[in-house]
Amino acid sequence: KTEAERPTSREAAWAALREEAKGCTRCDLHCDATQTVFGEGPLSPSIFFVGEQPGDQEDLAGRPFVGPAGQLFDASLAEAGIERADTYVTNAVKHFKFVLRGKRRIHQSPNAGEISACNRWLGQERDLIRPPLTVALGGTAARALFGKAVTISKLRDEPQMLPDGSTALVTVHPSYLLRLPDEARRAEERARFVEDLKRAKALAA
Ligand code: URA
Repeated sequence: KTEAERPTSREAAWAALREEAKGCTRCDLHCDATQTVFGEGPLSPSIFFVGEQPGDQEDLAGRPFVGPAGQLFDASLAEAGIERADTYVTNAVKHFKFVLRGKRRIHQSPNAGEISACNRWLGQERDLIRPPLTVALGGTAARALFGKAVTISKLRDEPQMLPDGSTALVTVHPSYLLRLPDEARRAEERARFVEDLKRAKALAA
């Protein structure tokens, strides 16, 4: 293939992968979720972000990070001077996991089996995109990327090497910031999150 043809074929391979993921039944989460929420963004992104799993709004919209956590993520990216349109955003787990409480669908963390079942999709997204820099948003993303449970606070301050040899930064999940009850602490943690994103931007440059 010529250079000019190559991007198109990568896009076709990505679109085929996304189609295939729509029918995924590798774990039980497809039973109750509305749809598979696949990653989105350019196939040569500045940064490859990995979240946990779609939330209520993402499940309905079919797009990652569009609900409350997504809004905080977008605002933090803007503060760090990162264009979301230059980044690829995906999740470790592609179906929403929840329990019903009345009419509300309450988020449940995916378990190790669900993360591992879904790794096929994340792995193939990464094989196609081969991102030089990945940012893991929270413990589930880090677990999926490193292939084992890790402690965010231990890995947070230094760039890490992933099993594929590429570089990753590990930071908190934006939902963690939303859940902090104390306003001052939330502002502090939010500023630290933005600093992590700035570090990612500097590494990606
Ligand atoms: N939280 C995530 O981890 N991913 C989303 O897409 C939305 C919320």
